[in-house]
Amino acid sequence: MNIIEQIETEVIRRYNNPNNIFGTESWHYHTKQVVKNAIVLAEQHNADVEIVTLGALLHDIAAITDEKYVENHHIVGAEIADELLTKLNYPKERIEHVKQCILNHRGRKPAEKLTIEEVCVADADALAHLDNIPSLFCMVYKEKACPLQKANNGLKANLKEVMPN
Ligand SMILES: [Fe+2]
Ligand SMILES: [Fe+2]
Repeated sequence: MNIIEQIETEVIRRYNNPNNIFGTESWHYHTKQVVKNAIVLAEQHNADVEIVTLGALLHDIAAITDEKYVENHHIVGAEIADELLTKLNYPKERIEHVKQCILNHRGRKPAEKLTIEEVCVADADALAHLDNIPSLFCMVYKEKACPLQKANNGLKANLKEVMPN
């Protein structure tokens, strides 16, 4: 298996773990779509397709691993990516590049993007969310009897998450 297949296998394993609060099926409607979008964007912008694919595969890995990482999943995700890619002997400077893609993928946590690969992953994530607007409502309304104001604030925060800076 090449590096992408190995990482994809690990990501799917974590999607299938009962600890994943987003559910197994979210692999199909989110990360798989992010990877698809990211590859198209990488090819259009002459970006490094392997870096972008790894960044897209790993961008939400912390959030699906444990609920406690959701809030800072961009930071913890970069650490998890470091561990996984180091174990697979991926070159150090390329690991740093993938980590930057994960650190800077969130619309809610604006950060300066220094490489085209970071832009591709962030935009691919936003596009996947915009392609699946009901999932943003689902995340907000999953708490039964969520008060309207709280629901409105949560939905606005989710939309901000997906809007490019
Ligand atoms: Fe994310
Ligand atoms: Fe995402």
